[in-house]
Amino acid sequence: MERPRWAPADLDLDRPSVARVYDYYLGGSHNFAVDREFAQQVLQAMPNVPQLARENRAFLRRVVRAMSALGVDQFIDLGSGIPTVGNVHEVAQELDPKARVVYVDWDPVAVAHGEAILEDNDRTAVIGADLREPAAIFADERVKALIDPSRPTAILLIAVLHFVPDELKPIELIGQISSLLAPGSHVAISHASPERQAEQIGQAANLYQKTASPVTMRSQAEIEALFGDLDLLEPGVVQTPLWRPDVPGELGPEAYEYPAYAGVGRVR
Ligand SMILES: C[S@@+](CC[C@H](N)C(=O)[O-])C[C@H]1O[C@@H](n2cnc3c(N)ncnc32)[C@H](O)[C@@H]1O
Repeated sequence: MERPRWAPADLDLDRPSVARVYDYYLGGSHNFAVDREFAQQVLQAMPNVPQLARENRAFLRRVVRAMSALGVDQFIDLGSGIPTVGNVHEVAQELDPKARVVYVDWDPVAVAHGEAILEDNDRTAVIGADLREPAAIFADERVKALIDPSRPTAILLIAVLHFVPDELKPIELIGQISSLLAPGSHVAISHASPERQAEQIGQAANLYQKTASPVTMRSQAEIEALFGDLDLLEPGVVQTPLWRPDVPGELGPEAYEYPAYAGVGRVR
């Protein structure tokens, strides 16, 4: 197979990558046969995954607009994925051209494609790093060049903490991240949960156990606990489509069956 330009040379094409599989759900083209075959198995168990992924992206955009309305103009998107439509810098810089955005992902395709599309944008950077090592991320020269830690920052952990198992102590991780942030900073989380569409999402999660990124789903209460000492913004931790919907009156019944929760916490 000929290697596309956006694919780094050392890519593992034998195993699906959760970043490339998610790109496929969203209709992107940065994925390979191994990813599409895996995605098809997930879609068989849970045909509405693309809709869930689009709702998740819509939450991301609502959060960026909410942060911008609060005057937050620096963003670090942890586990940012392969760039798609409505990326953080597009939403943030449309509202405030001075906004600065750092994308962090450990997937080589996400980093390579991000670098390619951000080449001419000097208020953004993409770095390949493990989000479970926040001190190293904040110490990175490219992060230091864009993010002033003495001013409020928005940290985005969107559809990624379910890839951090309990043994790796996600509550402590968020505490560690928060300790690096100025008062008035925010942490946004969306996270898969087994409380709705239990059978389908259970089957889908089982498929992910075979990948390099097994999934740990958490209940609403467990997701709320991830926020630790942060002050939750209204409306708290709710099903993702219910977090400050653009048109509240137009939420369909599926919004209440959404198998993931989302919220935003503020650093005191
Ligand atoms: C489901 S995608 C979500 C992408 C984006 N945040 C969104 O919600 O549209 C999860 C992303 O997290 C990345 N990821 C998972 N664990 C990671 C880790 N420990 N460090 C950095 N990135 C990670 C994956 O590579 C993938 O791109």
